[in-house]
Amino acid sequence: MYNITLIEGDGIGPEISKSVVEIIKKANVEINWDKQQAGKLALEKYGSVLPSNTIESIKKNRVCLKAPITTPIGYGFKSVNVQLRQLFDLYANIRPSKNLPNIKTPFEDVDLVVIRENTEDIYAGLEEKIDENTIHGIKLITKKGCERICDFAFQYAIKNNRKEVCAVSKANISKLADGMFLDCFRELAKKYSEIKTREILIDNLCMQLVVNPSQFDVMVMPNLYGDIASDLCAGLIGGLGVAQSANIGKDCAVFEAVHGSAPDIAGKNTANPTGLLRSAIMMLEYIGEKEKAKKIELALFETLKEGKYLTPDLKGSATTEEFTNEIIKKLTV
Ligand code: NAI
Repeated sequence: MYNITLIEGDGIGPEISKSVVEIIKKANVEINWDKQQAGKLALEKYGSVLPSNTIESIKKNRVCLKAPITTPIGYGFKSVNVQLRQLFDLYANIRPSKNLPNIKTPFEDVDLVVIRENTEDIYAGLEEKIDENTIHGIKLITKKGCERICDFAFQYAIKNNRKEVCAVSKANISKLADGMFLDCFRELAKKYSEIKTREILIDNLCMQLVVNPSQFDVMVMPNLYGDIASDLCAGLIGGLGVAQSANIGKDCAVFEAVHGSAPDIAGKNTANPTGLLRSAIMMLEYIGEKEKAKKIELALFETLKEGKYLTPDLKGSATTEEFTNEIIKKLTV
């Protein structure tokens, strides 16, 4: 029995969490879900977007599945995601993008992974007002941060039978910060001689990705470039609704869909649970349930391929429940 923190979120969060919990249960993985709150609901109930109960639960369980939450509008709220990443030092964000069965996109051979540094860069939140018309924002990059994310990318490539790691930067302009990132990448590359390496500037990467994405394999980059490039990559495979992500630290991990709480469709039983389900599949692999993870993925792919029960965002007319039941039906446990 695994103890895992579950943040059901708000908006479509509870609907898609219910779907994912049901599928995992039917796959016979025994999980004791420790339900906690974050975001708008937590603010209303506990006066904090990230209450201490939630933090304690993740500290104890070391693994968390997080559905989307609404960020309250207004000043004074630090993003829950950024807080979680910094509190638990979840330094590596993994965002795989691979074509899905029956989801038509301009390219048919996309299979790439963005490894994004998750704790530094402008997300360190170091901004100051110099005067009414001038803001000073700091891009914080450390050698330790560069080394561990590049090392993570090479390790990921080896574990997942990948051939190449490409370092993405803007080192022609950010000579010191991105320059250090590249130096660390080159130094680590010597240790992993079995993996091919490549370097590219972020602007050229964006152009190349929308022209010929199949030339890329694993890419590693500082936080801001990774934030933007990973959403672009999600677009290559069908959009945010189907994209998954993992935030990994030394001994703690948070898995989440990349989309938001979709208030426009909340409560309508039409949300697509695929993004959260694929994040949960990454979670099952992380805790060692690789076989069950594969079975769930196969059932999901089979449901997408058949195309009879798809949610409206995938041009179908099925409800979240119908889509979920179809996946459960196809599970071979
Ligand atoms: P959003 O991702 O919630 O929605 C954008 C569009 O995509 C909407 O039309 C929505 O209906 C659709 N969509 C998103 N997920 C879908 C799904 N699973 N199935 C079907 N359609 C889906 O982005 P938006 O509207 O900018 O943000 C809404 C709230 O979510 C905001 O408060 C934002 O701060 C928050 N947010 C939270 C995130 C998180 O918790 N990880 C990530 C991004 C935004």
